[in-house]
Amino acid sequence: MAVAPSGGTGRDGWSSRTAFILAAIGSAVGLGNLVRFPAEAASNGGGAFVLFYIFCIVLIGLPVLLSETLIGRHGQSSATQSVRRLAVESRASPYWEGLAGLGVLAAFMILAFYCVIGGWVLYYIGLFFLDLFQSGVTGGALQGLSAEQIEAIFPALQADGFTMSGFDIAFVAITLYFVARGVSGGIEVVAIWLMPAFFALLLLITIYGAFGGAFTDTLGYLFTFDFSKLTGEVMLAAVGQAFFSLSLGVAGMITYGSYVGRDVNLAGTSAIIAFADTSVALVAGLCIFPIVIAAGLSTEGGLGLMFATLPHAFQSMPFGSVIGLAFFIMVGFAALTSSVALMEVPTSWAMEKFKTSRALTAITVATLAGLLGVASAYSLNTMSGFHPLGFIPLFEGEGVFSALDSVTAKLFMPVGALLVCIFVGWIADPKLVDSENGLDGALHKFWRFLVRYLCPAALLAIMVAGLSG
Ligand code: TRP
Repeated sequence: MAVAPSGGTGRDGWSSRTAFILAAIGSAVGLGNLVRFPAEAASNGGGAFVLFYIFCIVLIGLPVLLSETLIGRHGQSSATQSVRRLAVESRASPYWEGLAGLGVLAAFMILAFYCVIGGWVLYYIGLFFLDLFQSGVTGGALQGLSAEQIEAIFPALQADGFTMSGFDIAFVAITLYFVARGVSGGIEVVAIWLMPAFFALLLLITIYGAFGGAFTDTLGYLFTFDFSKLTGEVMLAAVGQAFFSLSLGVAGMITYGSYVGRDVNLAGTSAIIAFADTSVALVAGLCIFPIVIAAGLSTEGGLGLMFATLPHAFQSMPFGSVIGLAFFIMVGFAALTSSVALMEVPTSWAMEKFKTSRALTAITVATLAGLLGVASAYSLNTMSGFHPLGFIPLFEGEGVFSALDSVTAKLFMPVGALLVCIFVGWIADPKLVDSENGLDGALHKFWRFLVRYLCPAALLAIMVAGLSG
């Protein structure tokens, strides 16, 4: 049964602090950690990217995470209403709610392409499942196929808009099922069951890779810091990845924070969330790269790293079928706890805005996201000449699919986070802010300094550096 988070508003909310922590970690840990982080690290110079990424998480991500959750907890309503409430109580313009409005839009855009990738994960779960039954436990994955044939599955899938659309819609539907059941009845249930299972699988596969794979080479690859590789573009990529991974800048954590009870210390829980998320990204690197490097394959290749290179690598390992299946199930769990969070952002916004029921609102959001997903799936091939943002140099040559990813990560998230910092650091009444953040003493002063000065300055500098190439 739903437990009202506070004030007896009767609003649905997390049933416990643990439920909130697991749900927030579930939101943060997802395809971003498992697919995007290793791919970004590989294409941005390995160690330079990784270390700057950790720096971004601690000094920019964590303070913004606390700022977002406290806006939500204070507001106890949808993201825009929560910002508006804090603004009005601080005698500032209610139009500050626009910052959350941008976030709601961005979350919707991410949801659309996120579910396409979620669909690919479903497809690979099916592939490895069939393989296991056809070839038995000990055989290499996808028996009977050559390495080239296995690697060719992914481009073939990307060329097949119809199949991708089908799996996209399936993934949207699974997400919808849980969002429609509400916060305590659906969203937290997914997190409570799937996150522990996710951690167990990640640990097992990493240990497996550490014994069979190139573990030491990976350590050198991920943690050798080469300062000359740290360009403006790499820095922008790292901040973008930090925000994407922590679900920041798109009103996600404002929304989840709004379901938190008054008894929860937000600073402590934010630190737990950021720590867990970063650990999973690093462990994902330690899980994926040894397997790939040991098979003598390239770590480059973006999304192909997970969907072409890894299946190939599994094929050459003992117990490849089981490991491959377990791996993609693990990825699916992480993706679902994030897609549920992504769908909740526009759903909670629209429910409040239009006073519609949760089920109806969620179905509408899911339908629209499914349509945009289908468009981006087809844009990968059939409409590959269609570049909606081609006139902006930063987004040159991107189709609908990659444009959704780039625009949200390089524009919406840094801008959204910058606005959150300005709002919480300069506009909102410090008394209200301090009654929420759970910090005191030197740590409190440090956090305020970060939110007021360092984060906005760093965000501006990095955006200028990244945008000007
Ligand atoms: N953090 C998620 C991941 O790493 C993706 C994500 C980005 C997200 N923004 C979000 C999830 C907002 C929920 C809400 O995969």
